[in-house]
Amino acid sequence: MSERIKAIVQTRYGSVDDLELGEIIKPVPGADEVLVRVHAASVHPDIWHAITGLPYVMRIMGSGLFKPKEPVPGIDMAGHVESVGKDVTRFQPGDEVFGEVVHGNQWKNGGAYAELVAVSEAKLALKPPNISFEEAAAAGTAGLIAVNNLRGRVQPGQKVVVNGAGGGVGMFAIQISKAHGAEVTGVDNTEKLDLLRSLGADHVVDYTRQDFTQNGPQYDLMIDVVGSHPFSDYRRVLTPDATYVLIGHDGFGKSAGRWVGSIRRFLKLLVLSPFVSQNIATSYAEPDEDPLNTVRVLLETGGITPIVSHTYLLAEVPEAIRHMVEGNPVGRIVISLISTD
Ligand SMILES: NC(=O)c1ccc[n+]([C@@H]2O[C@H](COP(=O)([O-])OP(=O)(O)OC[C@H]3O[C@@H](n4cnc5c(N)ncnc54)[C@H](OP(=O)(O)O)[C@@H]3O)[C@@H](O)[C@H]2O)c1
Repeated sequence: MSERIKAIVQTRYGSVDDLELGEIIKPVPGADEVLVRVHAASVHPDIWHAITGLPYVMRIMGSGLFKPKEPVPGIDMAGHVESVGKDVTRFQPGDEVFGEVVHGNQWKNGGAYAELVAVSEAKLALKPPNISFEEAAAAGTAGLIAVNNLRGRVQPGQKVVVNGAGGGVGMFAIQISKAHGAEVTGVDNTEKLDLLRSLGADHVVDYTRQDFTQNGPQYDLMIDVVGSHPFSDYRRVLTPDATYVLIGHDGFGKSAGRWVGSIRRFLKLLVLSPFVSQNIATSYAEPDEDPLNTVRVLLETGGITPIVSHTYLLAEVPEAIRHMVEGNPVGRIVISLISTD
């Protein structure tokens, strides 16, 4: 009989209350895959999209039309290598690794909320020894988004603003910008401002009290994690040759609509792009051959430090996701599986 492992199982799109701790058949790694014993997996907005099935467009993008194709949620994780496929060359059993099972921007389940997951070798890097599995799990998707979007864009002496700076991506964007010698402003809610300062932000703005687009300095680079304003508002505080990078949306994209979500906003920016002096970034400036390795080096050298706010057990995934949505966590929420090993 096939060996079984514990996992969170999702049989339909809907609410976190539909998720259950169950059992699945132990995954078998393909030729170029690594079987990872998961010690920690992160909870971030893309998990919520994959569980609710919203916006609907993601279902035709490959997550599954009427129910999730992959029944186990979880996108990024850290753990140790249990076994490797026959063509794997970079890893061996016992190695400590981290990475994404599926890319974050695919909005689909990856299977990381399980005791074991099979991951393509190309999507993994060695976990730096100086950080915990929980911290490494928090740096997968968010670290990759930050590295890919800042690389080749942030320069010494620039004024950079990060809108949504206290979330998973924003925290890394602040640290990377500071490390490049920029003067950094972080925008987020009241409870996160001390954290932003501790990560190196030179200035902070509380979005619940002040609209940073109404007045203030002219920024050379805007990293917009939440897309909270129309571009016409942002232009007021951008230099004529500034670069604007849209990463995501606020409130899990609810205001953007259930059908296509913030894709409409990305398309509008694409159309607007030739008619404004600012550079609206529609792709990565300098594609990185191995961005996860860049994240690894930053973690190892202290260039970025992940902040974990709370850890939950595998059985507590619904509670953990509810906390992310409703609880204003200061730092990333992480699922820890170490106690079930
Ligand atoms: N472009 C890509 O390649 C890519 C890939 C994957 C994912 N994404 C997207 O990137 C985003 C990921 O962000 P994340 O993981 O950093 O999310 P997060 O952890 O939820 O962080 C978002 C932060 O923005 C704050 N915020 C909310 N409304 C705001 C406003 N009006 N002004 C300023 N700050 C506000 C939130 O605080 P509150 O607690 O107050 O809400 C939170 O601290 C998601 O939208 C995801 O879908 C993009």
